[in-house]
Amino acid sequence: MIRDFKTILTALAEEVQEHLQDCLKIEGIPLDLQKAMEYSLLAGGKKIRPVLCLSWGEMLGADRKELLHFAAALEMIHTYSLVHDDLPAMDNDDLRRGRPTNHKMFGEAVAILAGDALLTQAFFVMLGSSLPSERVLAACREVAAAAGPQGMVGGQCLDLMATGMGSMNLEDLKNMHALKTGALIRASCTSGALLAGDSADVHKAASYGTNIGLAFQIVDDILDVTGDEQTLGKPVGSDLSSDKSTYPKFLGIEQSKAMAQDSAELAKACLDEYHGPQKEFLKSLAQYIVDRIY
Ligand code: IPE
Ligand code: IPE
Ligand code: MG
Ligand code: MG
Ligand code: MG
Repeated sequence: MIRDFKTILTALAEEVQEHLQDCLKIEGIPLDLQKAMEYSLLAGGKKIRPVLCLSWGEMLGADRKELLHFAAALEMIHTYSLVHDDLPAMDNDDLRRGRPTNHKMFGEAVAILAGDALLTQAFFVMLGSSLPSERVLAACREVAAAAGPQGMVGGQCLDLMATGMGSMNLEDLKNMHALKTGALIRASCTSGALLAGDSADVHKAASYGTNIGLAFQIVDDILDVTGDEQTLGKPVGSDLSSDKSTYPKFLGIEQSKAMAQDSAELAKACLDEYHGPQKEFLKSLAQYIVDRIY
């Protein structure tokens, strides 16, 4: 891990946070909706997805400021997915990012609409990019595919259908994780590459993203068992109490940890042919994702 990794991560996250504030300056929308969107979007969070987009894009030659539209939009889509994921009809959780969940504060109807609004506004924000339009469209299409029924929404559906059924095998579990979490993480990397205009690098970005996406959800599953509520800002034991299919349930904690580390190593290897500070940062980021369990 590079020595100044945490400092760089914090600085990038702050830059994204500032841009998110600007993205929410939307004229003439209902006050309750505005408040509910701000409440979840500006509540903190690790900003992994925006930082991946910025780092891949910058490593391949794009200007960081130009990437910020997409970085912010990815965080808006991710936040919408969390607001909906916590709803009583889904995971029914009460705590997120260290605060009561959106529906606990604003009621279910407004929480659903705040999620809808964040998702839709994300596309408005992406399309406001001043990069060449063919790059913007390619990146937008990539993000749409990752967020929708072939990606995150499809994965969330598989997750809910499997809950309490005990019917999954390891292959199904891997596929579900690849969709519900992996797809948006992968698109965070590939959209950065597409915005840099270098389509030759997209498959490397995809492979890196797929591997850290898997590591990320395995770690999330492990932390639901071994983590603490204070650090995570969300409940622990939620997967167990709702009988979710998770890696620890299938493989136990130790084997799950080993699998997360293996995936992080595969991700790091995708960076071999690159150079510069973003390469070192992305390597450290892959390790940081796994180090969260130690
Ligand atoms: C949590 O994502 C939901 C999953 C996809 C596992 P993060 O762990 O990135 O949540 P924040 O953004 O830091 O709150
Ligand atoms: C959520 O997975 C993935 C999403 C697309 C939101 P989880 O349900 O495990 O996420 P947490 O643990 O509630 O953050
Ligand atoms: Mg869930
Ligand atoms: Mg959940
Ligand atoms: Mg979880």
